[in-house]
Amino acid sequence: MKLLLSRPFYVFAILASIRSGCAVPAVPLSGLESEGHSVCDPSASGPSLSTQQSTAFKDYIHIFFEERDVQKAFDRYIPGEYINHISTAASQGREAALTGLLALQANPDMMRDHVTLFTGDGFGLAYYRRYIPGSSTVNFAVMDKMRFEGTCIVEIWSLFQTINGNETNPIAFF
Ligand SMILES: *[C@@H]1O[C@H](CO)[C@@H](O)[C@H](O)[C@H]1NC(C)=O
Repeated sequence: MKLLLSRPFYVFAILASIRSGCAVPAVPLSGLESEGHSVCDPSASGPSLSTQQSTAFKDYIHIFFEERDVQKAFDRYIPGEYINHISTAASQGREAALTGLLALQANPDMMRDHVTLFTGDGFGLAYYRRYIPGSSTVNFAVMDKMRFEGTCIVEIWSLFQTINGNETNPIAFF
């Protein structure tokens, strides 16, 4: 099924897919991640760091939302530490989060649209709708804030609100 994407997301998704693999330098991770898939660098610094974080965040969201490949997104950008502030998270760490997200994403009807995002000051923020078409219970406006160390993602805060469809505001959420 094709994702319905807001125009800014579509444009950057194309850019991200063109640039992925060349704009973000692959750097040895000194034991952080053993499988060698990671392209992020936890010790990246310098004047181009904010640009590198922007590229990393767009690529992470593109891989997760468009390619629907949670494992690849984590392998590339969440190679180690992962501090999770999501209220429903039962336990901490990369593996617990990955297990939960793989289960969530296993449903081929799980959709995301109205995706907008930005990065700044070492954080990435994504705002979007996550829903299953026809479902009255899985229909959420979601805001994820993620913190970078270098070009790796190491911490997440997330808020979500159910979209009932009867909201008072005709431009509710998006
Ligand atoms: C909208 O629908 C939800 C779910 O049925 C209900 O709980 C809520 O009270 C409704 N809100 C309004 C403003 O009608």
